[in-house]
Amino acid sequence: MQLTPMAPKCGVEVSGVSLANCTDAEMDNIRTTIYEHGVAVFRDQEFSPEDHITFGKRWGGVDVNKYFPISDDFPEIALVKKEADESTNIGGAWHTDHSYDQIPAMGSVLVARDLPPSGGDTQWAHMGAAYDALPDDLKAEIEGLSAFHTADHVYKEDGLYAQTDMGKNLRGQHVRTGATHPVVIRHPQTGRKLLYVNGGFTINFVGQTREESLPLLQRLLDAAVMDDNQCRLQWKPGTVAIWDNRTSWHNALNDYAGHRREMHRITLSGEPLAA
Ligand code: OGA
Ligand code: MN
Repeated sequence: MQLTPMAPKCGVEVSGVSLANCTDAEMDNIRTTIYEHGVAVFRDQEFSPEDHITFGKRWGGVDVNKYFPISDDFPEIALVKKEADESTNIGGAWHTDHSYDQIPAMGSVLVARDLPPSGGDTQWAHMGAAYDALPDDLKAEIEGLSAFHTADHVYKEDGLYAQTDMGKNLRGQHVRTGATHPVVIRHPQTGRKLLYVNGGFTINFVGQTREESLPLLQRLLDAAVMDDNQCRLQWKPGTVAIWDNRTSWHNALNDYAGHRREMHRITLSGEPLAA
């Protein structure tokens, strides 16, 4: 397995491994790689839906996203798709997946199935690098703070998606979520300090209202996506990305109007988070 950085602080491209046939040692290597770098990208993979599910189960538990459409034939596979005549995409703002769960998903294995002729890239940002770059006074201010996360405003009957043309495709409008996590977590495996608030699902700091929380929250969100924390992936047929939701945030670019994009996602189970 060879690792090539995608950017100075986030992401690596991994070559010399076939995900559908990898050994246990390679699997362990991939785990360590994404824990550290946030996302790993694999090119030219032959990776059928069956291979995708087998790989996810080998990794550990599989979570099923409560909102995304699921494949009829493969209920473990969430469909992240936008039709040519639709305008709103899934994941089109900086976020990390499932932080609204008290035991959030560790990460995802995303496979490109149908790509637009150009555009539809995905960006990731490294939350260890983001934390390290915070000024000392900001680090001191968030020490010991926790925050409340939910997805209700995004997915409920009259939520953000319901007001768009993606609303009709989603499930789970009646699901209610809520979780509390430290603002700075330690990565469960590497021990690295990571900023763990995000613009998608973090509402307020515990003990403060939304209004009281917003100025500090906004400072953190702005600091988290400074350019040199980021990497960007141009998908091709056969590209697979595996990311760690604790180490990284991601953002799906929506710049391919008039074209279809379909990705298959398997969500990997995680563990409780601690400061
Ligand atoms: C996701 C997501 C990014 C993309 O699957 O969680 O945000 O580029 N997708 O489709
Ligand atoms: Mn996402």
